[in-house]
Amino acid sequence: MDSSTPSLAVAEQEALPGLFHGSSSERGVLSPKRPAVETAGMADVFPYYAGFAFEWATKQLSRDGSHVGSDMTVLDPWNGSGTTTLAAQSLGIRSIGVDRNPVANVIARLRGETSLKPQLTEAPPSGFGRGFYKATDPLNAWFSDRTTRRLRDWTTALRKADGSLNAVAAVALFRVIRRVTKKFEGSNPTWVKRSKSPEDRIRIPARELDEMLLTEQRALCSRIATQDLPKVGTTILTASSDSLPLRNNSVDVILTSPPYLTRIDYAVAYARELAILGHDISADRTLRSSLMGTTLIRKSETFSHEFGPVAQELLVNICGHDSKASSGYYLKQAQQYLTDLSSGLDEISRVCKEKSLVHLVVQDSFYKDVPVPLAEICIDEATARGWVLEEREQFVVRRSLVTLNTPARAYKKSNVAESVITLRRG
Ligand SMILES: C[S@@+](CC[C@H](N)C(=O)[O-])C[C@H]1O[C@@H](n2cnc3c(N)ncnc32)[C@H](O)[C@@H]1O
Repeated sequence: MDSSTPSLAVAEQEALPGLFHGSSSERGVLSPKRPAVETAGMADVFPYYAGFAFEWATKQLSRDGSHVGSDMTVLDPWNGSGTTTLAAQSLGIRSIGVDRNPVANVIARLRGETSLKPQLTEAPPSGFGRGFYKATDPLNAWFSDRTTRRLRDWTTALRKADGSLNAVAAVALFRVIRRVTKKFEGSNPTWVKRSKSPEDRIRIPARELDEMLLTEQRALCSRIATQDLPKVGTTILTASSDSLPLRNNSVDVILTSPPYLTRIDYAVAYARELAILGHDISADRTLRSSLMGTTLIRKSETFSHEFGPVAQELLVNICGHDSKASSGYYLKQAQQYLTDLSSGLDEISRVCKEKSLVHLVVQDSFYKDVPVPLAEICIDEATARGWVLEEREQFVVRRSLVTLNTPARAYKKSNVAESVITLRRG
């Protein structure tokens, strides 16, 4: 990531003494939080709300490996930019990363590229305007027709037989479009504006654009070369945590950070990169509404899950809040989130072996002035599914994405806690 590209991970963290449970002496006080600038594990190649640091994930998995054995399978059902899968790969451990956002999966694939692959860079497509382009192209929300056409020359040329893009060239595209569309970003990093008029759209001469993309590709390739990763089985899948494409009893360790109940809209945050991959989130709401924590309410939602007492108390508190739409829209949004979390935990329970371990990194938050005790909710819901709490570590988060939301500031939130919860399958 260039220094002008802000990371979406803005929290600063410190350990809360006296709040450790379990054998923290064995593991020491190690914060999962990413440092402000993290270069390890190529975390800086593209801004992503990561949940935890690469080095922390590596230490965690190597500890698990010494208990479970190195022939283990690690899963992250909310894999994002692939910190878990990369940490596992660097230790030579087999892993599977699942994420519903295809942008995240491109970044995860790039980070797991091995330097042994010969042909990572792509030459500029020959000719102009030969790529697949339609008048309603989602890139037109930010780019002039000519620039969109050149971007489509690239994406058409990069598409492989299986429909996926070469990860190096795709992330080069992501980096370039993010840099040149900065003016469409507002104070909330998860909300991206669209051009209001054709004059507002970005124009870049084709040759200049090609040069920018080639420079990015070369830089990414030299970063990959310095990683020197082993080639182990790493599988990155675009799927949903509520129906994991995995066999029953096939996973030994889960290391993950689910979306929090903080109204981060991952589809809007990555609308430009999704447009590169051909998704138009303003015309088709399927992807956006399928993400956990989405701000859209699904029409078909029935909320049939029975939640434990901590989740139920949260719903009662939200419903009883005197601010506008608390008992309507906001209650539904929280119910939808908790339903997705419950379905994810059902799937985790299905795919995990007996005695397997789950590490969840979760952040508490606030709805207005109502605390959202996400760690307690996860513990409550997981123990109801037969998981046993082994350990919980808490860290205070000084500043979170929630505080970037101006209306939310009216409630003057105190610091919130981030927890690392370890559970074992009974
Ligand atoms: C906190 S981030 C995880 C970050 C990750 N630890 C990393 O290193 O980048 C949560 C992820 O959950 C993904 N997600 C949201 N809804 C999902 C769903 N229904 N199924 C799978 N992944 C989902 C989001 O796209 C996001 O990448």
